[in-house]
Amino acid sequence: MTGLIENKEEFYQEILEQTRALITGESDIIANMANISALLFERLDKVNWVGFYRLLEDELVLGPFQGKVACIRIPLNRGVCGTSAATGSVQRIADVHQFEGHIACDASSNAEIVIPLKVSGKVIAVLDVDSTDFNRFDEEDELGLTNIITLFEELMTK
Ligand code: SME
Repeated sequence: MTGLIENKEEFYQEILEQTRALITGESDIIANMANISALLFERLDKVNWVGFYRLLEDELVLGPFQGKVACIRIPLNRGVCGTSAATGSVQRIADVHQFEGHIACDASSNAEIVIPLKVSGKVIAVLDVDSTDFNRFDEEDELGLTNIITLFEELMTK
């Protein structure tokens, strides 16, 4: 967290409202992914990579992101992102080295959270956030990021 906000719930509420302001009225999904990645990368503490992978046919393809260059294509079911996309569930991983099949795009990443983005119930992308701090993401991060993705889903289907 940056700025004067001490409380995580308030912090994520502010980010949610900033997301709403950024993407309302814009229908281009890539542009919206780009701005959401930039916003989260700027505002979240201790994260070294934030971005989207889009599900195209049967694999994840790198989308808009902030951070170091990353793996371009990830098969469904592989790694943390592929598991999230295949199961449609959030993956919140305290230590990625303990995750079977984890894909180390950046060797300095130690914790990761991945939120699936669904349209009409189908996964079309995932949001991936990485940190060099073990156990970086707690339940409040999961809720805050999930609310941002839910808002994105709602505004994309309007
Ligand atoms: N670590 C991810 C791959 C994506 S990068 O972290 C940007 C995974 O295991 O799915």
